[in-house]
Amino acid sequence: MEPEGRKPGAVVAVATEPRFVQRYRAFLEQQQLLDGQHRVEKLPGGAVALPVLGEAPWERLLLELRTRVAPGSTCVLTQLLHPVPSKKARGCPPAQRLCRELRRWVEGRGVAWSADLETDLPRSWQRHGDLLLLSEGCFRAKQWKDLEPELWETVAAALGVQRVARRGRVSRDGTRTPAVTLLLGDHGWVEHVDNGIRYTFDVTRCMFSFGNIPEKLRVASLPCAGEVLVDLYAGIGYFTLPFLVHAGAAFVHACEWNPHAAAALKTNLELNGVADRCQIHFGDNRKLKLSNIADRVNLGLIPSSEAGWPAACQVLRQDAGGILHIHQNVESFPRKTCQPPGNSGVEEEQWPYLQQMNTKHGGNGMSRDSGRKILAGTAKPEWQSWAESAKTRIVALLQQVHGGLWKTQVLHIHPVKSYAPHVDHLVLDLECRPCPLVG
Ligand SMILES: C[S@@+](CC[C@H](N)C(=O)[O-])C[C@H]1O[C@@H](n2cnc3c(N)ncnc32)[C@H](O)[C@@H]1O
Repeated sequence: MEPEGRKPGAVVAVATEPRFVQRYRAFLEQQQLLDGQHRVEKLPGGAVALPVLGEAPWERLLLELRTRVAPGSTCVLTQLLHPVPSKKARGCPPAQRLCRELRRWVEGRGVAWSADLETDLPRSWQRHGDLLLLSEGCFRAKQWKDLEPELWETVAAALGVQRVARRGRVSRDGTRTPAVTLLLGDHGWVEHVDNGIRYTFDVTRCMFSFGNIPEKLRVASLPCAGEVLVDLYAGIGYFTLPFLVHAGAAFVHACEWNPHAAAALKTNLELNGVADRCQIHFGDNRKLKLSNIADRVNLGLIPSSEAGWPAACQVLRQDAGGILHIHQNVESFPRKTCQPPGNSGVEEEQWPYLQQMNTKHGGNGMSRDSGRKILAGTAKPEWQSWAESAKTRIVALLQQVHGGLWKTQVLHIHPVKSYAPHVDHLVLDLECRPCPLVG
């Protein structure tokens, strides 16, 4: 006997008068029927509801409660539509809570719980406010299909959200569209506040990487006061906004070809009160009409931003050059140790980007960025070879685009995150300056 039409996410409870609660609780505990994962709740009419566990001979038990356990009491079986997790349950890890709630719900529907179902549960997810974004490989077993759409309501109730979506593979078409399917809810718009900046976007149409947060913080602290920047892969503004709000950039030209990301970027610029210092260039950045204006260019695309290097060189100022922030996934080979060697001068020469350089490069034409702390901690030889080849290619491109002689200098190789086994997402800060004409 269960209350009619049990709602997804609801729990069954026995409701009685407050003065009988202690006796009811003791009896239910003794019968191992008390649901310790949810809080006892006061109902609007004054009765108290004790959450109980699934299937049991409730008709007989209710009679026993009324007649033997607490004579004179009344009781009914009811549902708590929005059960509140108990203190004990709040201490339980969310993945465990999800498993327990789903198992209870699945068994309540007469479906046998199996190891297959359990291993098919998600182990990781992202929370975007009231939207839960599940990882790709979960809930793929056929049995789940028959339990939709209530399944998603149960998942939402177990983890305390209103909407559920599941990610697929990030598309390789350049828009980095995440192929997210909305499973519960009527829209995918979410909002984040990060380092004092508000971002809103539709998770089903624009990518978001929590792993890039350290790079956003780094960008926010760069000395960009008064500078003109070009963000070649602006997305919803993850780098454009910190450049404008925190780093003091005078103006940002933000390039983006995904219309959904460009729309979110426009909203985000307005939300943060910096729309008057940014121009969105909608379309393919390889066809960008700008040239000779930028003090700094951000190339935030992985696995590689190489297709954008000619445009980056073209927009750099011909008279003064500037800094490029080049993102790239770099593969390295496993080895026992990749720590920098000791302190001999020779070894320092081999690991130039591992040294702290707190003094300015006086007299060589390089900028204040050259004086920043240059420390990559555990830079790997593959990172350095990639940086060296980028440096050489960029010099050639600059000379081709602007004419004259140019010099480039690796300021910093910054590991953003580990992207995959042996693949690191790096940012190379490359300083590019025209060489003064001699004679
Ligand atoms: C990795 S995402 C974005 C962004 C942001 N930098 C971040 O890390 O969150 C790269 C963005 O560049 C855009 N994009 C890729 N190739 C492009 C191109 N050729 N022209 C303009 N936008 C491009 C994609 O649509 C996507 O929004």
